[in-house]
Amino acid sequence: MDGHRSGSSGQDGTAEQRQRLAALPPGRLGDAVRMILDHAYDVVARLQPSAEELDALVQFLTDVGYATDARRQEWVLLADVLGLTDAVMAGVGPGNSRATPSTLPGPFYRADAPALAMGANLCRGGAGQPLVVTGLVTGPEGDPLAGAEVEVWHANAEGRYENQDPDNQPEHNLRGRFTANDEGRFHFRSIRPAGYSLPDDGPVGQLARRIGLSLDRPAHIHFAVSAPGHQRLVTSIFDGSDPAIGRDALFSVKPGLIGDFRPEKSGVSLSVVLVLDRDAASQRSSEEG
Ligand SMILES: [Fe+2]
Repeated sequence: MDGHRSGSSGQDGTAEQRQRLAALPPGRLGDAVRMILDHAYDVVARLQPSAEELDALVQFLTDVGYATDARRQEWVLLADVLGLTDAVMAGVGPGNSRATPSTLPGPFYRADAPALAMGANLCRGGAGQPLVVTGLVTGPEGDPLAGAEVEVWHANAEGRYENQDPDNQPEHNLRGRFTANDEGRFHFRSIRPAGYSLPDDGPVGQLARRIGLSLDRPAHIHFAVSAPGHQRLVTSIFDGSDPAIGRDALFSVKPGLIGDFRPEKSGVSLSVVLVLDRDAASQRSSEEG
């Protein structure tokens, strides 16, 4: 780079740091710090940041801390927007799973969604395109899971959840809990959700805007499914026709999670299949015969 020292002299400047870190006793924490700093030293060597730029980094991290309180977790937002959360979650599950990929529950989940009768309407108020969702819950071999509990929640036609919009939406609007029938099937009515943007009024949103990282979330419906002997599945089905489908801010859109919202005489319909992995205990007992 013009006007800067060469990369190799920068690397020499960190020789002692690298040496000292290399001498640390083995362990995951020390390994993680060493690997992260190895990359950080490379960045310093290549970009040769000024003291002011280091100050700006420290100020950014300070701002993220100040923006975090009981209601808002800016650090989690930072990890999410940088793709770190999704990268870690992708490595946690079993590699050969046939289960529906999981996604983060997000900040708008409520554990107290009301139990509703099959076919009920989630919409308690507000306009939107009518939506009918039919679903099937199965185990990894396609075996229907009768009696599975299916929690559903989604944003309204303006891309807002009831718990972030209490002045305009009734309590528990667009959320409910259903019990799958003997064939593992369920259905309900609602309105078509719209996509939304993550907040850009804090340091993480401002960073994303500055460097051109997407804050858009394509429209989606959240599901959390439980059935005895199976791992709980938390996932989202996305609207494949949403223009933001290729730039989800949280990197959650996976091939198995893109839904087809089909036009109907009045409104749209969506069909979903949600596949759960067996839990460790029932997997062991089936292997033992
Ligand atoms: Fe969401």
